[in-house]
Amino acid sequence: MEILLGQTLTFTNDPFKTSPDTAATHHERGAVVIENGKILAVGPAADIGEAYPQAQVTDYGNALISPGFVDTHVHYPQTAIIASWGKRLIDWLNSYTFPEESRFGDRAYADRVANTYFDLVTATGTTTTVSYCTIHPESVEAYFTAAQSRGLRVLGGKTCMDRNAPDTLVDSAQSAYDDSKALLKKWHGVDRLSYVITPRFAPTSTPEQLDALGALWGEHPELMMQTHISEQHEEIAWVQDLFPKARDYLDVYETFGLARDGALFGHAIHLTERERDRLREMDASLIHCPTSNMFIGSGLFDMAGLMETGHRIGLATDTGGGSSFSMLRTMAAAYEVGQLSGTPLHPAQLWWLATAGSANAIHLGDMIGTLAPGYEADIAVIDLASTPAIAQRADRAEDLWQALFPTIMMGDDRAMISVWAGGKKLF
Ligand code: GUN
Ligand code: ZN
Repeated sequence: MEILLGQTLTFTNDPFKTSPDTAATHHERGAVVIENGKILAVGPAADIGEAYPQAQVTDYGNALISPGFVDTHVHYPQTAIIASWGKRLIDWLNSYTFPEESRFGDRAYADRVANTYFDLVTATGTTTTVSYCTIHPESVEAYFTAAQSRGLRVLGGKTCMDRNAPDTLVDSAQSAYDDSKALLKKWHGVDRLSYVITPRFAPTSTPEQLDALGALWGEHPELMMQTHISEQHEEIAWVQDLFPKARDYLDVYETFGLARDGALFGHAIHLTERERDRLREMDASLIHCPTSNMFIGSGLFDMAGLMETGHRIGLATDTGGGSSFSMLRTMAAAYEVGQLSGTPLHPAQLWWLATAGSANAIHLGDMIGTLAPGYEADIAVIDLASTPAIAQRADRAEDLWQALFPTIMMGDDRAMISVWAGGKKLF
């Protein structure tokens, strides 16, 4: 049994639905008790210390003990091409992404990148990732193996594409179905790993492939499904060309059984009224990727409007279309996008989006993303004065939210004092 001492923050409500101060419980001198990989208790340090006199205590002083961050949309195979200059989506895919993803049939290369990726993201406090792999089963093996060795709860799947990609990077309707099925049978539910059915996006799949993956999802309704929707105008026009009978982009996915709750739709920027209504009705998850949407020049996600209508929303880096591995940087970008849209997000809303909100978007809101008894002990211990610039600003803070905001806007991996996954200390 372990006890961590520091400031603790627990969301008991959604801060988009209630005021930030009633959404969260904060103990300035708090304690988190960990046993068998889970959180046993959270409370004021004075009470907890007396209740568990045998526990091993680590005192983090004034640092914030937070749930680890949950990154709901990444492409780990794009680790080495992050920050590639000068292209919009389709050119960016063809110029940078597809050549790099073509290398992942080599298991040794995939292992190397997967390990680099998890070293980088855990250093920024992320403990759960939802990743696209490549068309190669080797890329999925590498991803799950690297996560498993670190004790991380992660989700991911083989990216399926059978057209509009180079010959080195296409499967077929049948092989996509067969390979996905074999991988999900091997990995789903093993340790802390979950398989996600992963058609890349409508333009790179034939109707036959989308149909096959819809059928596979029908056979395994317990899985999540991830894909992209309405990221750029050129992409949307292309989908309309390729699927002339579809009412809109979402209708393509609906036609093939790929749109319901459990669907994770990346980007979702340029939605029609019908798409917005249907997405709400089916309770699908929309994934906001703010650094990517700015880096690739895609547009502004309507966070305020979609929260108002009760959509389920997750936050994500979209590595490597996104320009950072860090959920702190991603929260900062979400704040900036909110400003451009006329609605600044409160620090509580940003932190919730990176933890409990994102856990809820991937249907794991009762297991991870919250610092409370019964939850898995995935924890980031964060220095709220990690650089001179942040420290001098945080010094003026009059409450927790003001103390948190400089780290949201200016923090990076230097803020991470310690990260725990499933009750085990990674560093
Ligand atoms: N749409 C289809 N594939 C991708 C991808 O890899 N990144 C982004 N940002 N959008 C996509
Ligand atoms: Zn993506």
